[in-house]
Order: sequence, then C-alpha cells, then structure tokens
Amino acid sequence: MAVMRKLFARTLFLLVAGLCVAGVSAAPPKKAASKPVAPAEKAPAPAHAAPADEDKGKEINGVCAACHGEFGQGGKRGEYPRIAGQRAAYIKDQLKSFRARKRINIPMYPYTQERELPDEDIEAVSDYLAAIQLPTKWPEFKDSDDALTRLEAVEKVMIVPRAEGDIENGKAIYQKECFSCHGRDGRGRGKFPLLVGQYTSYLKKQVDSYLKGERPHDEEGPKGILNALGEKDIQDILAYLTSIQDAEK
Ligand code: HEC
Ligand code: HEC
Repeated sequence: MAVMRKLFARTLFLLVAGLCVAGVSAAPPKKAASKPVAPAEKAPAPAHAAPADEDKGKEINGVCAACHGEFGQGGKRGEYPRIAGQRAAYIKDQLKSFRARKRINIPMYPYTQERELPDEDIEAVSDYLAAIQLPTKWPEFKDSDDALTRLEAVEKVMIVPRAEGDIENGKAIYQKECFSCHGRDGRGRGKFPLLVGQYTSYLKKQVDSYLKGERPHDEEGPKGILNALGEKDIQDILAYLTSIQDAEK
C-alpha cells in the first residue's frame, strides 16, 4: 500500500513537473523570472544528432529529468546517477535491462515499459543524453547569485568530490584490470560505461550489487574481476577515478 501511495505521489509529482516544463517552454520569456534557474542558453548543447531526433530525445528526457536532472547531471549525491555523456549503447542496454527486469530498478521500472518507452524512444533519448557535454570547469559566480543558483550550477559540473583512498594502488589495479573495457581514461568505450565523473556513492552501490550477484558485471559469468578484489582495492580504484576526472580528454 505504501508503495502504491508513493508511486501515486511520484506520478503526481511528475505530472506537475511535466506541466511546469511544458509551461516554461510554451510561455513567452518573462522579464522577471521568479526563480533564477540557469537560462536556456547555458544548457550544454548536444553535439551531433539529427534535429528531429534531438527534439524527440529532449522531449522524452523531460520525464527522466524529474530524477536525473534537466541535463542528465543526476542528483541527490548519486542516488540518481549521471546519465549525460554516458555511452549511448550502454544507456540503451540498461533501459532494456530495466524493462526486462534483468537489472532491478524499482523507481524506473514504470517508465521503461513498452507503452511508456518504446524502442524508438530508447534510441532517441539515449542518443540525446550521450551527446550532452556537461562542463568540466567550475563556474564563476556573481555576488548576486543566490545559494540555489550556485548549487544548481555546481551540480551540473562533471566533477564529483575526491574519494578517500590510495590513488597509486587504485591506479595500478585500474590500469591492469579495468582499462581494457572502461578505457585508460575511465570514459568508457563502445558499450562499456564511463566511470569517471560518475558519483562515487553510485559506483560503490553498483560494485556491491555485482559482488552480491544481483547485477551481472561482464561476460565472464557470476564470478568476475571484481570478486577477486578486496574492499580496500575497490575503494582505491574509486579514489583513483575521482583523481583523473579533470584531466584533459
Ligand atoms: C523516478 C525516478 C527516475 C526516473 C523518472 C528515471 N530514472 Fe533512471 N534511474 C533512477 C535511479 C534511482 C537509478 C539508479 C538505480 C541503481 O541504483 O541501480 C537510475 C538509473 C538509470 C540508468 C543507469 C545508469 C548507469 O550508469 O548504469 C540509466 C541509463 C537511466 N536511469 C536512464 C533514465 C532515462 C533515460 C529516464 C527517462 C526515460 C530515466 N532514467 C528516468 C531513477 C529514475
Ligand atoms: C571485460 C570487460 C570489463 C572489465 C575488464 C571491467 N568491466 Fe566494469 N563493466 C563492464 C560492463 C559490460 C558493464 C555494464 C554491465 C551491465 O550491463 O550491467 C560494466 C559496469 C561497471 C560498473 C557500473 C557502471 C554503472 O554506470 O552502473 C562499474 C562500477 C564497473 N564496471 C567497475 C569496474 C572495475 C572497477 C573494473 C576493474 C576492476 C571493471 N569494471 C572491469 C565490463 C567490464
């Protein structure tokens, strides 16, 4: 019952959020907006994608934005992962796994059903999100910027706080065991996900569910590379990943 109530509340919230989004884009720009959110021209522009698909992707992303943020930047310190700039092939895979319940994601399950998100919508929204380039430099603020404006701008930057750990040890393991799929720079390749710039708490949660066998990690079967590592090694890898995020691409 509590779950139903929560779902209902969430639906209502999304409806309202959706209406607000629709309202904002439909209404002519007003001189004095009541809430100083980032203006549209500051939005990171998707790089390449056919305009039609881009519009469609953007529209679908309106639903995702309620949890993952308007620009796919994620939120609640990693409860909602960043999905902007993630590999398109990987996003598509994950959306299909959520739908098929191969990867359990209760909050997202209703949004991934065929009726809500047919395959062509998965294509459009994944390509749209993958093309978003979040800034990797800290914003400069004016004295007049209030706390909310600052917080929202900072959350959009593709840099997460440094994680504790032995960076040298993390580097050694990562560059031996992980790079072949996740890339030397941690930005993924092909269908292998980007790890750099992702919230540490989220990555940690995923590693935990791989270790428990709740989510399959790679093609090697239930016992993979992560099972061979100790808790400290994993923490060190996470620390290393947060140390290379502002490196040049
Ligand atoms: C009700 C909140 C909610 C909505 C709406 C939502 N998501 Fe999510 N999403 C989540 C949560 C929570 C997770 C993390 C699940 C976990 O911890 O394993 C997630 C995870 C993901 C992931 C996996 C990221 C990764 O690195 O593996 C992708 C991709 C994703 N969402 C895409 C979308 C897209 C696209 C939409 C819109 C069609 C959407 N989400 C709508 C809550 C939501
Ligand atoms: C053989 C290829 C391969 C290797 C090597 C590999 N991974 Fe992965 N990794 C994957 C694949 C594939 C996924 C996505 C799995 C899925 O579909 O759920 C993934 C996902 C992840 C995720 C979750 C990302 C997200 O956004 O949810 C983490 C964290 C991760 N890997 C960490 C590591 C670490 C740490 C290492 C090295 C110790 C490593 N991986 C080595 C293939 C690999």
